Amino acid sequence: MSVLVTGGAGYIGSHTCVELLNEGYEVVVVDNLSNSSKISLDRVEKLTNKKLKFYEVDLLNKEGLRDVFKKEKIDSVIHFAALKAVGESVKEPLKYYHNNIAGTLVLCEVMKEFNVKNIVFSSSATVYGDPKIIPITEECEKGEITNPYGQTKAMMEQILIDINKADKDFSVVLLRYFNPVGAHESGEIGEDPKGIPNNLMPYISQVAVGKLKSLSVFGNDYNTKDGTGVRDYIHVVDLSIGHIKALKKLERERGVFIYNLGTGVGYSVLDMIKAFERASNTKINYEFKERRGGDIACCYADPSKAQRELNFKAIRDLNKMCEDTWRWQTKNPNGYEK
Ligand code: NAD
Ligand code: WQD
Repeated sequence: MSVLVTGGAGYIGSHTCVELLNEGYEVVVVDNLSNSSKISLDRVEKLTNKKLKFYEVDLLNKEGLRDVFKKEKIDSVIHFAALKAVGESVKEPLKYYHNNIAGTLVLCEVMKEFNVKNIVFSSSATVYGDPKIIPITEECEKGEITNPYGQTKAMMEQILIDINKADKDFSVVLLRYFNPVGAHESGEIGEDPKGIPNNLMPYISQVAVGKLKSLSVFGNDYNTKDGTGVRDYIHVVDLSIGHIKALKKLERERGVFIYNLGTGVGYSVLDMIKAFERASNTKINYEFKERRGGDIACCYADPSKAQRELNFKAIRDLNKMCEDTWRWQTKNPNGYEK
């Protein structure tokens, strides 16, 4: 079975390539390297002792993508390729709508042309907005989304659902990730944000390693146990394994399937700081700041549907998430560049 992984050189994509190769899938990566480095894929090959095919192609380049489908026999697609910085999407909405939506349309058109009918899509808990129910089940209505990035996720979900309505054989798994963190336990691949990180975990680890001075904790007056925001952090290797389970679902059944990928446990920002200090044996400097625009108090998954239907359960705990992040950070203080 051959799987096309769009955005496969990125953070979650590279970890998923490892799991795919270890499961015996043939892997074809398409990535324009706009937010990643080819070195991640070299390391994937080294870690698995297996080869994958890599095409440096932009999804917006339809001819380039058609060439890949002509050369490779693709059975299924895992679609990671997207821009994902929430703040940037507010400043540059057109860039986000164009890249994420048009990229997905081109991909689906080429899939249709080549009769490829399985897709696993990277969605996000962001589609729930400020959730009405906690823990969040898949039945929870999509909420008011406050940024263009999140809007693109909700729109891409709808595009895939509509394609299935017109062609029942076109089958889709929408995976709504909670907060992916951590790294492969080898420390060879991990998250390599460009510039100053937007997300909590890479920010904490750059403070720990001395690249950044102090963490700003956005808000300490939320209605949570310690006043700081609560999230459902999931280890990226668990998340990647969720994609294999989703592919296997499509090998058994046709339709549209929606799953939360989270642990079901919520941790506050202060919990994360303490856990990282323990795992890294460092001191994290932090100061409380104003709430960040668009943030919600609390968000964690009810992960039971994925457990029931996919036999998926996230098993790596918070300590492992921090230890693995720290190993990646200390082995690669400048990411893939040096
Ligand atoms: P990432 O930026 O590391 O990976 C995305 C990859 O897609 C990058 O390698 C980038 O170069 C590539 N890409 C972007 N636009 C492209 C295009 N037009 N053509 C070809 N390649 C393109 O991000 P990630 O954290 O690995 O996220 C993967 C997916 O998961 C994204 O769709 C993201 O929105 C989604 N997601 C991520 C998170 C998170 O917190 N990391 C949470 C929920 C959902
Ligand atoms: C986590 C908590 C912050 C940074 C985002 C996207 C979401 C999804 C995952 C892609 C919050 C606090 C953070 C900092 C802080 N991405 N924080 N200081 O906002 O839950 O989700 O990434 O789909 O769509 O919105 O993740 O890591 O940014 O924040 O205090 O410097 O840490 O306020 O409570 P978030 P995050």
